[in-house]
Amino acid sequence: MSPQPEDALKRYRARLEAVLDELLPPARTLPADLHEAMRYATLGGGKRLRACLVYATGEALGASISQLDQGAAAVELVHAYSLVHDDLPCMDDDDMRRGKPSCHKAFGEATALLAGDALQTEAFAVLAAPSPVPGDVRARMVAELARASGSQGMAGGQALDLKAGPQATVEILEERHTRKTGALIHAAVRLGALAAQSEVPPELDAYGLTLGLAFQIADDLLDVEGEAVTVGKTVGADAAAGKATFASVLGVPAARRKARALYENALVSLRFLGDNGETLATIAYHAVERNH
Ligand code: IPE
Ligand code: IPE
Ligand code: MG
Ligand code: MG
Ligand code: MG
Repeated sequence: MSPQPEDALKRYRARLEAVLDELLPPARTLPADLHEAMRYATLGGGKRLRACLVYATGEALGASISQLDQGAAAVELVHAYSLVHDDLPCMDDDDMRRGKPSCHKAFGEATALLAGDALQTEAFAVLAAPSPVPGDVRARMVAELARASGSQGMAGGQALDLKAGPQATVEILEERHTRKTGALIHAAVRLGALAAQSEVPPELDAYGLTLGLAFQIADDLLDVEGEAVTVGKTVGADAAAGKATFASVLGVPAARRKARALYENALVSLRFLGDNGETLATIAYHAVERNH
């Protein structure tokens, strides 16, 4: 019998924490403040959605957990870097992240900038390092994560976000969200599939793309409806910055309906996996129905 999805998710989170703890240099290694900042921004927080997607996709396709560690760690390292930079004064200027002061508040802007840089390069070092995944597949995974993080993926989406004003069409929002958040979530699914069987079933591409957009709509809703103590970051930040979001453009009820419709579509994409898709279905549920 397959383990319950919630148990699988707990196992993935605990495993990821141990893998990240092991691969990040100890806080006392010189330069100590940089390593401390990298560990501060990466360990002991976050929902670990992207790592769970790598693990759950890979296991659904028959991979062993040790084939999936590098992909899971790499995508969370890129994600952690993106959050450190996203919070900087030159970007969203947010003081709180994961329930504690954001990295630049704790370590200063210059160290936070470098911590983000170093987390990003560490991600690619981890993916390229020897592992149970064959070298040619690892090279494809490196390219996959690089494209998802770069100017046509997350960094490009962040560039669009900087220019965002109070007005936007749904198409413009989808474009921005799909890049700034969706690209990395989609890549997490692809990394799990590549590590498992060196190819990505088209249904899982559809699942990853749909989930990425749904996840950012839920994030927009939390910025309007969430409570800072639960969400772990400043709420009302999008409105204060004058940025159009799904919540402001569609209104809260319609934005929620859209997120739920995307969730239903994501479930349809998982049908081909049968019972093996249960954990991915649970992840999609948590991505949309969440309070943090
Ligand atoms: C926050 O991502 C930034 C977005 C892309 C919306 P998460 O909500 O996944 O953040 P953590 O990792 O759980 O802190
Ligand atoms: C962040 O989007 C996306 C990335 C970090 C790439 P947001 O700016 O909406 O994320 P939060 O709300 O600060 O977590
Ligand atoms: Mg932002
Ligand atoms: Mg932000
Ligand atoms: Mg947000």
